[in-house]
Amino acid sequence: MSAPTDRIRQINDEATDAIAAASSSEELEDLRVRHLGRKAELTTILRGISDLPADERGPVGKAGNEVRSSLEALISSRGAELDAAELSESLAGDRVDVTLPGSPAQAVGHLHLVTRTRRLIEDIMVGLGYRVLEGPEVEIDYYNFTALNHPPGHPARMEQDTFYVAPGSLSKAALDSARVASEKAEADGTATPDDELVVLRTHTSPMQVRAMEETEPPIFIAVPGKCYRRDTIDATHLPMFHQMEGLAVAEDITLADLQGTLREMLRGLFGPGREARMRPHFFPFTEPSVEFDVSCFRCDATGELADGSRCPLCKGIGWVEVGGAGMVDPNVFGFVEGHGYDPERVQGFAFGFGIERMAMLLHGVPDLRLFVENDVRVLEQFS
Ligand code: PHE
Repeated sequence: MSAPTDRIRQINDEATDAIAAASSSEELEDLRVRHLGRKAELTTILRGISDLPADERGPVGKAGNEVRSSLEALISSRGAELDAAELSESLAGDRVDVTLPGSPAQAVGHLHLVTRTRRLIEDIMVGLGYRVLEGPEVEIDYYNFTALNHPPGHPARMEQDTFYVAPGSLSKAALDSARVASEKAEADGTATPDDELVVLRTHTSPMQVRAMEETEPPIFIAVPGKCYRRDTIDATHLPMFHQMEGLAVAEDITLADLQGTLREMLRGLFGPGREARMRPHFFPFTEPSVEFDVSCFRCDATGELADGSRCPLCKGIGWVEVGGAGMVDPNVFGFVEGHGYDPERVQGFAFGFGIERMAMLLHGVPDLRLFVENDVRVLEQFS
């Protein structure tokens, strides 16, 4: 075998090993130039074929061209491998970690003050052993009024207090339950002309009866949610607001338990040492009924600030009104007697208050409208 053919074999072996070992596309490109480029040894050998003795030209040319195309093929397949590896490496390097804070860091949003206050109250109620439930905002008259002992003609049922809704806007399930309720009222003789009416609930109290229909006594529930009344808008009235309802029914619940529960809840909200006070009031569905106050947390119930001036929060009284409550009226149990609520055997209390009002008191917010205007200068103060 001739010297050039041997050399071609050597070049082939060296180059084949080097190509397989190339670790980057740059290194591969250098190898291509070195072994196949214009100044490469193999190129020079092929170019010099015409100077060889005639009998060597054929074998040398054949071997040279074979090696050349074999090396080209090897370089191209190794190149594809390296390109793929380099691409996935650079993609991995470029991957964006969406969990990292932005640069510069962007302020994240936060819960609205009303939501935070609702959750705070829920936590307190859960701590007292209550279950948190929610109910429908579009309610049937039966639960909102009738079963809560609002007799026909009660002022709260009047159109100027209440948003009535076309029954057609109810879901089929809600309409069915309205029909069942009004048939039941018909059979019980408790039906009123308003039984098929649909309202935006005026309080969260309708869940008292709904929950008692679902759960036998004892029952301890807290019901947060939106309520609607036809109020004109001012600093202390909005047509939509939030309430928190509490209901506790068992065999041996008394007004003293209501007092203790209110006191614990108010201490959870306004700080240790707060007291609860009850004043006689009227609600159709509680008897006796009360309004309840918290001892003023601004002046520590003295009615005076440190400088001797009258406390602006309690107006010098030492107490701040927060909500309504009372012992569940036996007439209300009459509507759920079939569900284990025998008015002769069980008794309980209910209370309700505005969540916005609690937030206003807790944070010194002067105007209810600030909660719905979404002015970031206000919202950002409660992050
Ligand atoms: N639902 C009453 C209201 O909206 C508050 C209340 C709840 C009163 C429970 C007594 C018992 O004013």
